[in-house]
Amino acid sequence: MPRLVLGSRNKKKLREMLDLLGDLGLDLTDLTPYPDAPEVDETATTFVGNATLKAVTLAPVLREWVIGEDSGLVVPALGGAPGVYSARYAGTHGDDAANNAKLLAELAPHSGPARGAYYVSTAVLADPTGTVVASVEGRCHGLIITERRGTGGFGYDPLFLVPEYGKTFGELPPEVKQSMSHRARACGQLREVLQKVVCDR
Ligand code: IMP
Repeated sequence: MPRLVLGSRNKKKLREMLDLLGDLGLDLTDLTPYPDAPEVDETATTFVGNATLKAVTLAPVLREWVIGEDSGLVVPALGGAPGVYSARYAGTHGDDAANNAKLLAELAPHSGPARGAYYVSTAVLADPTGTVVASVEGRCHGLIITERRGTGGFGYDPLFLVPEYGKTFGELPPEVKQSMSHRARACGQLREVLQKVVCDR
């Protein structure tokens, strides 16, 4: 089974990617089997820049096909914040509780459509030499509510209301998130490429 490495140590992201691409017959893993893989600093100022950094740095070191995925929440009323800094918005990388608290505080003066937001997922596929083979982006639009609801998903999901359902990604079952999320939309675009260049090897 051809191997495909997600260049991340975020278990919840891997779980979502497995749900989205698991049927392709790929041995999809995150960086867990590669404890010595380099830490890739997210020094770019765009999602595609950071996703590319992850993919092209890791692929030649691991000598495997790698997906670099960079994602985040964009709030136009906050000038695009937290954006590429979503994981470390409040200072500490991956502190979801603090990030959510900061988002609520920053948005406190805003109401109605000014609380509109969208998630972005950019995925870059690199071959084992580090050459970029595909670059895709998915988005998902919603509203940031004023208090957390639900315990599902991760990151900003308890605050991210999906208007069609009147529920947050924290409240909705995972299969609903997987049917419409930014990551689902990015993975949907990657499927055909993966089938051609990785699965049929
Ligand atoms: P990355 O690991 O640098 O791509 O950071 C992604 C960050 O964006 C996460 O730590 C979350 O704060 C946020 N994020 C990305 N995707 C999601 C999602 O599906 N739900 C909630 N938060 C997300």
